[in-house]
Amino acid sequence: MSSKSIKVAASGTVANVSCGFDCLGYSLDDPFDVVTIKTSPKPKINITVQGIKSDKIPLITEKNTAGKAVLSMLNNLDIKKGFNIDISKGIPPGSGIGSSAASAAAALIGVNQLLDCPLSNEDLIIHGMVGEQVASGSFHADNIAPALLGGIVLVHSYDPLEIYRLPVPNNLISTVALPDFTINTKEARGLLPKKVPLKSAVKQASNLAAFTISLYQNDFNLMGKSMVDFFAEPVRSELIPGFKSVHKSVMKTGAIGCGISGSGPSVFALSDNLEKGKEIAKLMHEEFQNNGLDSITYTSKINKNPPNILD
Ligand code: HSE
Repeated sequence: MSSKSIKVAASGTVANVSCGFDCLGYSLDDPFDVVTIKTSPKPKINITVQGIKSDKIPLITEKNTAGKAVLSMLNNLDIKKGFNIDISKGIPPGSGIGSSAASAAAALIGVNQLLDCPLSNEDLIIHGMVGEQVASGSFHADNIAPALLGGIVLVHSYDPLEIYRLPVPNNLISTVALPDFTINTKEARGLLPKKVPLKSAVKQASNLAAFTISLYQNDFNLMGKSMVDFFAEPVRSELIPGFKSVHKSVMKTGAIGCGISGSGPSVFALSDNLEKGKEIAKLMHEEFQNNGLDSITYTSKINKNPPNILD
């Protein structure tokens, strides 16, 4: 039998979005990973990696997020086929913009296509989460769900898994600055408080509800007021030199809101037009530079589409 091959691009994601720890995320246009999947005559998953900081990615299938996700899918379907998965990293690992989720999403979509689509993209989320567990040590879907579905996604429940796609205001612009150092998600999760005061839990819950309303009503004022993180940011911001000054100057420029992307070190901001988004990117870069850090910035609309099948 001749081998079949497919190439899929999956983009980065911003998880938490300040008010939705572990349950809210959105998809970016840029950066993205490109994954090439080929059928193999041997019933084995073989991983190769190239591109940005690819030396940091484990090649052992069970330890690789894409490999582990595909194994979970094949086991679940009771399919004993093999695939060669070549990951070309455009998203640096340890960046807080869903690098591991993007590789897993692209690999899952590619394998699913080569198997003639037994599963929907929604069905693939659970397998992506199994992959994510390798990187973060815990089940969370706020990167993998938007990576697989596109748009802004709310995880309402983990058991059973229940995901909702939220409306994406057309003129909503995302800016992300990735400073030149990494944070290990597992370690960043280890810093989180085991308990939160009732007052903070109430504020976080009402902010997430208000953020959701703001998307339905195109109300950027309400969106801004709701983008406060009482859970993770107070402890994690200490890991990011210059976070406070980046936040302050971005908000002064008229951003809707600003926070840590996922577990960091990337910082994201939302704004209401592309020019402002680019201005914010420049400011973020300058502020990180003032703190001795180089950074890469990405400014675009929210990506509404699932991973792209290239050929
Ligand atoms: N919600 C996860 C966390 C996202 O903040 O740990 C990790 O990118």
